[in-house]
Amino acid sequence: MSLGQVVFTSEQIARRVAELGEAIRRDQAGRPLTVLAILHGCIQFVDGLREHLGDEVTIELIQASSYRDGTASTGNVAVSRYGKMAVAGRDVLIVDDIVDTGHTLAAVRKAVEAMEPRSVRTCVLLDKPARRQVDVAIDYRGFEVPDVFVVGYGLDHAGRYRDLPHIARLEQA
Ligand code: IMP
Ligand code: MG
Repeated sequence: MSLGQVVFTSEQIARRVAELGEAIRRDQAGRPLTVLAILHGCIQFVDGLREHLGDEVTIELIQASSYRDGTASTGNVAVSRYGKMAVAGRDVLIVDDIVDTGHTLAAVRKAVEAMEPRSVRTCVLLDKPARRQVDVAIDYRGFEVPDVFVVGYGLDHAGRYRDLPHIARLEQA
């Protein structure tokens, strides 16, 4: 595995994250918002969004794992760390780095809905629609990507490349 072509530069990402953050803030219209950030991939993304979301925001971290060290989803998603969070009666925004098969977002959404929020919306930086297996609603989407494995800006492969400021393709070679 090696790094390939840059897909989105850090400047492109920053611009798009600002647009998404502003759209979320506008739609939220001053009401309190709980952001549920899916670890670990969306740390940079959530940090970037946070700057644009205003004061009435609570950020909670949850873990959802379906990937091991490979590049394909197992479809088995474990969701944890959502025990004591401010969700009931609140507007919730689930944030993930990328939606691929859709299993992760669907599993997290189901877990969140069981906690009786006032509303649930979803936000992803990247959308890879070609690989979708489960239909999930995406309310805020940064960019669409083709069916290639990408890393950087929080996205990893086997724990590597998260710290890249841009997003690049990972090549098999
Ligand atoms: P899904 O459950 O198949 O939609 O997968 C979502 C999760 O898989 C994301 O939160 C990522 O952690 C991981 N993932 C999917 N595609 C990629 C990729 O191209 N690069 C890095 N991680 C990915
Ligand atoms: Mg992830």
